[in-house]
Amino acid sequence: MQDVQAIVDRALAEFGRASDPAALENAKARYLGKNGELTAGLKSLAALAPEARRSAGAAINAAKQAIEDALEARRAALAHERMQARLAQEAFDVTLPGRGRGRGGVHPVIRTWQRVEALFRTIGFDVADGPEIETDWFNFTALNQPENHPARSMHDTFYVEGHDAAGMPLLLRTHTSPMQVRYARMHSAPIKVIAPGRTYRVDSDATHSPMFHQVEGLWIDEDVSFADLKGVYTDFLHRFFETEALEVRFRPSFFPFTEPSAEIDMRFASGPLKGRWLEISGSGQVHPNVVRNFGLDPERYIGFAFGSGLERLTMLRYGIDDLRLFFDGDLRFLSQFA
Ligand code: DAH
Repeated sequence: MQDVQAIVDRALAEFGRASDPAALENAKARYLGKNGELTAGLKSLAALAPEARRSAGAAINAAKQAIEDALEARRAALAHERMQARLAQEAFDVTLPGRGRGRGGVHPVIRTWQRVEALFRTIGFDVADGPEIETDWFNFTALNQPENHPARSMHDTFYVEGHDAAGMPLLLRTHTSPMQVRYARMHSAPIKVIAPGRTYRVDSDATHSPMFHQVEGLWIDEDVSFADLKGVYTDFLHRFFETEALEVRFRPSFFPFTEPSAEIDMRFASGPLKGRWLEISGSGQVHPNVVRNFGLDPERYIGFAFGSGLERLTMLRYGIDDLRLFFDGDLRFLSQFA
């Protein structure tokens, strides 16, 4: 049998030369593996006399222990070296100046939202916010929309599973008009408010998106007339588009919650859209049934409401012709407004 100490010395030297974990494990096999040198030594013990076997066995076990310890130590050293190398490679200087940061911008539709709020605040309108998950009662019933009205069908409305605390069906509001009722029931007359927000319908093409934005307007007092609606809305359009070179017309229409009702159209006197009548808003004198649902006496209180699409206003202001651009998240489009 070979000198055990010589085997240990060689093993330690070889482990020391192993420069990566794979080489180390290969070296280990040459000593401790099935056909390794120490294993061979252990096998040869069988041929020795009992006395000699005991001392040779002890020597081999001690050698094995020494080799295993050296192996463990080298494994740890290699792992440490590797970690140091990685840390050195991945190190970065936290004191270096930045490479420039992307700056976020306000989405064009939200710009319109903010602009509309600012403009209406200057003429004394409050700004209100309300739930996008609405009850059937606020969205339809309270607004004088009969049970069999087509807008209530599954085709047009996203119904939400479950019911509210009072057992009423829930849906994603199809317009901001329920805010008229919510706001009026929480405040006392006179009422003068706009309620911008997100609205939802089962609709999707170049001019319709399942989620879109509206702004609701409501002014109720003892003597608010259709003439006030004309004055307020025309003035708003002049200020929103920063020009008085536009015409406004109120075209008879129908909404269950207003009587009379009108579609508001506008026409630019110049620019690329010159001469075309463009539909911009629904409006009307609030229906007595709705005034009653506000908790007010329709014999005493009267006023107007309107509901305008914020996407529509944005498209006309910036000359955008496809609604989908607002929702694609394409930075080439969005950064033009930042
Ligand atoms: N809620 C209507 C819609 O989404 C728009 C509307 C029309 C709102 C007339 C009003 C109104 O307040 O008076 O189509």
